[in-house]
Amino acid sequence: VRVPTPANEPILSYAPGSPERAELKKTLDRMASERIDIPMIIGGQEVRTGKLGEARMPHDHAHVLATFHNGEASHVQAAIDAALAAKAAWAALSFAERAAIYLRAADLLATRYRPILNAATMLGQSKTAFQAEIDAACELIDFLRFNVSFAQQLIAEQPISGPLMWNQLDYRPLDGFVYAATPFNFTSIAANLPLAPALMGNTVVFKPSPAAAFSNWYVMELLREAGFPAGVINMVQGDPAMVTDTVLAHPDLGGVHFTGSTTVFQSMWRTVGENMRRYKQYPRLVGETGGKDFIFAHASAREDLEALAVAIVRGAFEFQGQKCSAASRAFIPSSLWPELRDRVVALTEELTMGDVRDFRNFMGAVIHEHSFEKISAYLELAKSSPDTKILAGGKADRSKGWFVRPTVIQSENPASRLMCEEIFGPVITMHVYPDDRFVETLRLCDSSTPYALTGAIFGRDRAAVATASRELRNAAGNFYVNDKPTGAVVGQQPFGGSRASGTNDKAGSFLNLVRWTSPRTIKENF
Ligand code: SER
Repeated sequence: VRVPTPANEPILSYAPGSPERAELKKTLDRMASERIDIPMIIGGQEVRTGKLGEARMPHDHAHVLATFHNGEASHVQAAIDAALAAKAAWAALSFAERAAIYLRAADLLATRYRPILNAATMLGQSKTAFQAEIDAACELIDFLRFNVSFAQQLIAEQPISGPLMWNQLDYRPLDGFVYAATPFNFTSIAANLPLAPALMGNTVVFKPSPAAAFSNWYVMELLREAGFPAGVINMVQGDPAMVTDTVLAHPDLGGVHFTGSTTVFQSMWRTVGENMRRYKQYPRLVGETGGKDFIFAHASAREDLEALAVAIVRGAFEFQGQKCSAASRAFIPSSLWPELRDRVVALTEELTMGDVRDFRNFMGAVIHEHSFEKISAYLELAKSSPDTKILAGGKADRSKGWFVRPTVIQSENPASRLMCEEIFGPVITMHVYPDDRFVETLRLCDSSTPYALTGAIFGRDRAAVATASRELRNAAGNFYVNDKPTGAVVGQQPFGGSRASGTNDKAGSFLNLVRWTSPRTIKENF
């Protein structure tokens, strides 16, 4: 089998007057004027319980986009049964046949489904058109196409055979089903967490974040139309603790593909430990969790001060700082400080925020009330701490949507809570260090949080960049030199972090796919 060589999907501009803009606007209007009802999908059947949750627009929280049906433990059990029942036929399909479904899904998304997934992501998750396009369209298309190509390369990897002997690796799926528990912040990740294991022949119980129920429903529609057989990906909703407990107690648990908070993943890991004797195998646990991602400037970044300021603002505030990769702390040498501070503050104050259907807005609202309150509490902390100062933003308004102004904080204490804790909102805390304490400050950056997801060094001095790369070697799974720490592209920057940020099984690479296979070695004598 030779699958097509993938290329990254080009990003459409949605410029005024463009056909894609007209199509997207039409879809936004239609979706905002209806209120759909989202069932669970178990064994290809729509299941409705009448126990309804609501999907609302974060930037207009009175507006209900959809209702969705929550299940009980019996529904989760039924989803596991459906996954197990579909397994043999799915695993028996040749790789080419499974690949064809993925490639068809990619083409459907690149064309007819593009405005649908983009509009749903804009309305339900409050992404701007550009942020939706790079997520729900381009990144998801890339996951579909590149993973097919990575899987093909993986399967081609075979041991040496000798005279009168043939050795093979048979890339079996895991024994059992996979549980995919997914986050609200990327439609592409929500889709990839069930899709990557399924590509290797696994069947899946998929629990989307309720905060992304709207766009994730259209993902399921896309997959059905692309030809995924019933039972391969089963979508359930319900109390997260109930779903997790039911799934993790099952003897046929083969693996978990998770993106979300460190606390939840650690608690799942403990539950798996407690249940270990029930399982037929050691379940694969793959998780991408929290972050406190950094931008570290060296004094030699002076020549690129504008690029540094733009990286801070885009890295911290795009999608309201709700990317796991978002810059949320910065270390700035005192020689650059006054000028950089003024540029960052000026750029931040210019940022437009509001309803994402107005294409002029740079930011929408944060995802929900719980998030709004958590971020607001950090803003209060910044106001009341003697060693911190709010330089821009600091305001939040809940009257129409969950709006938090992009906020720049200066912290004298490099180990303050604002410098160390994950906030997951449009807030960046900056610490100014003496130029001659570069190495000590790098060490502080490395040791002051439990996380290690993304980070960036800015500087022209090659020796300084090399020092930073060495000192921060374990501080980030995705390390950027003279770039913002967000926006990893499938096939270009395999994505994932270590320490409390996850198991570092790089999404969008063969390193992730390898976790969803349990190879069998076959030796045959001739
Ligand atoms: N992959 C995204 C980024 O790099 C975050 O999940 O921004």
